[in-house]
Amino acid sequence: MPITSLRERKCLITGAASGIGRAVAMAAARQGAALFLTDVNGPLLDEVAQQIRSTGGDVRMVRAFDISDATSVEDFARAVHEAHGSLDVVMNVAGIAIWGSIAALGEEHWRRCIDVNLMGPIHVLRCFVPPMIEAKRGGHVVNVSSAAGLFALPWHAAYSASKFGLRGVSDVLRFDLKRFRIGVTLVCPGAVDTGLVRTVQIVGIDTAAPDVVKMRTRFQKHAITPERVAVQILDGIRKNRYLVLTSPDVRIGYWFLRKFAWPYELVMRFMNDQLYAIAKRQRRSAP
Ligand SMILES: NC(=O)c1ccc[n+]([C@@H]2O[C@H](COP(=O)([O-])OP(=O)(O)OC[C@H]3O[C@@H](n4cnc5c(N)ncnc54)[C@H](O)[C@@H]3O)[C@@H](O)[C@H]2O)c1
Repeated sequence: MPITSLRERKCLITGAASGIGRAVAMAAARQGAALFLTDVNGPLLDEVAQQIRSTGGDVRMVRAFDISDATSVEDFARAVHEAHGSLDVVMNVAGIAIWGSIAALGEEHWRRCIDVNLMGPIHVLRCFVPPMIEAKRGGHVVNVSSAAGLFALPWHAAYSASKFGLRGVSDVLRFDLKRFRIGVTLVCPGAVDTGLVRTVQIVGIDTAAPDVVKMRTRFQKHAITPERVAVQILDGIRKNRYLVLTSPDVRIGYWFLRKFAWPYELVMRFMNDQLYAIAKRQRRSAP
C-alpha cells in the first residue's frame, strides 16, 4: 500500500540542513509529516528545525552526526525507536561530491565518497528498515543517487562508485521490500542549485580558475531548484514511483543510454574531452 499522505507519518531525512534535504523537510512538514532530521552540520540543522517549528511543523527529533559513522547512526536509531517506535518513511539525502582523474584521486577521496554516499545510506537502511518490516505497517524508502549513478560522467569514478552502488542497493530492495509493502524510490538528480555546487571538490584542478568558474556558472544556469526536486520526491513517494529523474536532460540521456549506445558514447566522449582540455590548459599556464 503506497504512502498516499504524509500526514502524521514519521519521516527520517538525512542531509536536512541544506539543499535537497532541507527542501524536502520543509515540503514534508507542510504536508503534516512528523520529522526526524539529521545532518553533520549542527548549527544549520538547528536553524532548519527552528524554521519548520516556527511555521507549525512537527519536528520530533533533531541530531547532528556524521552519517558515515555506524555507531552514531545506531545510537540515533535506538533513541528514535525507544521514544517513537518504528518509522514510516526513510530518506537518504546526505551526500558529498569529490571528483578527479584516476591519477589525482587518492585513497582518502575514494574512501570518503564510499563512506558518506554509500555506507551512510546502508547504515540508515539496516538500522531503520527492519523495525519497519516488523511493524507491518508498510512504508517507503527514498535513496538520493545522482545522474552520476546512471552515466559515465568525466572524472566521476569515485562519486559514481558510491552513487551506482546506492542504485544497486535500491534496485534490490525495490523487490525485497515489496512483500512488506515498503516502496522504494531511487532519485537521480541532474544539476540542482544547492550548496554542493560550491563544496564539490575537484582534485587536481584549480576550482577558482576562470574556465572552471565558467563551467560552474553553466551548471547553475541549467540547474533546477531543490524545492522542485522536493516536489518530485514527495510525488514519487505518493505514486510509489521507483525512478525519479529530476530534469529533462537526465531523462533524455537515460533514454539514449538504454536505446542507443552511440549517441550516449559521443556525449560522454565530448564531456570528457572538455574536462581534459581544462586540465591541459591549467598545466600549460602553471608556473
Ligand atoms: N546538487 C546537485 O546538483 C546534485 C546532483 C545529483 C545528486 N545530488 C545528491 O543530492 C544529495 C543532496 O545534496 P545537495 O545537492 O542538496 O547538497 P548540499 O550540500 O546542499 O546538501 C548535502 C547535505 O548533506 C550533509 N552532509 C554531508 N556530509 C555528511 C555526512 N558525512 N554526514 C551527514 N550529513 C552530511 C551536508 O552537511 C549538507 O547539509 C546528495 O546525496 C548529492 O550527492 C545532488
